[in-house]
Amino acid sequence: MQPYVFTASSCKSSVRRKTHQYYIYAYPGCRCLEHGRIMVAAHNLSNDSLEKIASEVIGCRLCKLSRSRKNAVPGDGQASAKVIFIGEAPGKNEDETGRPFVGIAGRILDGVLRKVGIERSDVFITNIVKCRPPGNRVPGDDERAACRAYLDRQISLIAPRIICILGATAYSSILGGKSIIENRGKIIKRNGQKYLITIHPAATIYNRNLLHVLEDDLSILSREIKKMENLDRNSLLDYVGD
Ligand code: URA
Ligand code: SF4
Repeated sequence: MQPYVFTASSCKSSVRRKTHQYYIYAYPGCRCLEHGRIMVAAHNLSNDSLEKIASEVIGCRLCKLSRSRKNAVPGDGQASAKVIFIGEAPGKNEDETGRPFVGIAGRILDGVLRKVGIERSDVFITNIVKCRPPGNRVPGDDERAACRAYLDRQISLIAPRIICILGATAYSSILGGKSIIENRGKIIKRNGQKYLITIHPAATIYNRNLLHVLEDDLSILSREIKKMENLDRNSLLDYVGD
């Protein structure tokens, strides 16, 4: 294979960030704009890691939720995850264990993921705030704002193909959205990032009919992941065949 210098217009992978990392590795001399941006991002993030974020979260005292928590809950999953799920805040079980979505809502989510064929290992799960609000109240704007940088760093590091918004708190915090029921099941793109909007798994505890809604939405997500994987595979094959 000949060394290949991309330009911004000839670079085939300009929209596929994970695939791009492979290209950078294979062709470090590339000078296209997209590679440049990714290399700068990689450099800026090179001192950050999910482990570093987790240890900062565990010691964090930036908002008043730190006073009542037992354990902060940074999130669970690999940096290689293709999808990030974002819920609201840790509940009682999560506060006790330091892990996200391990109570009833977590069991519901696990069941639906299994049903639609999404592997837990392909997913990173976290919340808008990393500490439990007393009595499971909705986290306040001040708490969401204080906690936001941790989430943004997790998203930058993982560079997920799609973010799954679970429920109204995540929807309003991340996308400024209001009506989950009107917008659930939709995939939207904002600033180059794809999002799937769905209900919070806990909503299905009180209304069993909503379980079908969650299943329908996560099967849309599953199809989207498969579609993106196929695109990646084809673009790589295309490229190697050049
Ligand atoms: N509900 C959430 O929003 N997050 C959890 O981690 C658990 C329940
Ligand atoms: Fe820090 Fe977030 Fe916990 Fe508040 S909720 S103490 S900002 S980790």
